[in-house]
Amino acid sequence: MATNRTFTMIKPDAVENGHIGGILSMITEAGFRIVSLKLTQLTTADAKAFYAVHSERPFYGELVEFMSRGPIVAAILEKDNAVEEFRKLIGATNPADAVEGTIRKKYATSVGENAVHGSDSDENAKIEGDFFFN
Ligand code: CDP
Ligand code: MG
Repeated sequence: MATNRTFTMIKPDAVENGHIGGILSMITEAGFRIVSLKLTQLTTADAKAFYAVHSERPFYGELVEFMSRGPIVAAILEKDNAVEEFRKLIGATNPADAVEGTIRKKYATSVGENAVHGSDSDENAKIEGDFFFN
């Protein structure tokens, strides 16, 4: 059964470029309720742990460096079928493939620096939310 919660981060590129407000607006206008929210910064160790599933991928080192280079906004969001609905709202990993109206289409600059994270399953939404809010 679909849960009604997902987890997101506004990534360092989008924070650096002044897009916290724009992205939160898109999220709330799409009908998500913000349950928890904070501005924080990942240590290298935090970023390694958060993305441990990608540790064998060629982009892992770059991803860890990127995600820990500046502040991020972490949030837990609520909506019916939140995980799937939010993945639709953020769009494809590569902004070149993201459709009009998605957050990544509007704010992502590359496949690596793609503005937002969205959990990919109910199970990971819970794990990732607990990583930041406990
Ligand atoms: O974030 P999403 O679930 O759409 O993609 P992912 O496949 O789980 O990859 C996690 C993150 O790694 C992406 O959001 C990108 O920031 C980064 N990545 C990358 O730098 N280069 C790739 N070829 C794929 C992903
Ligand atoms: Mg993913």
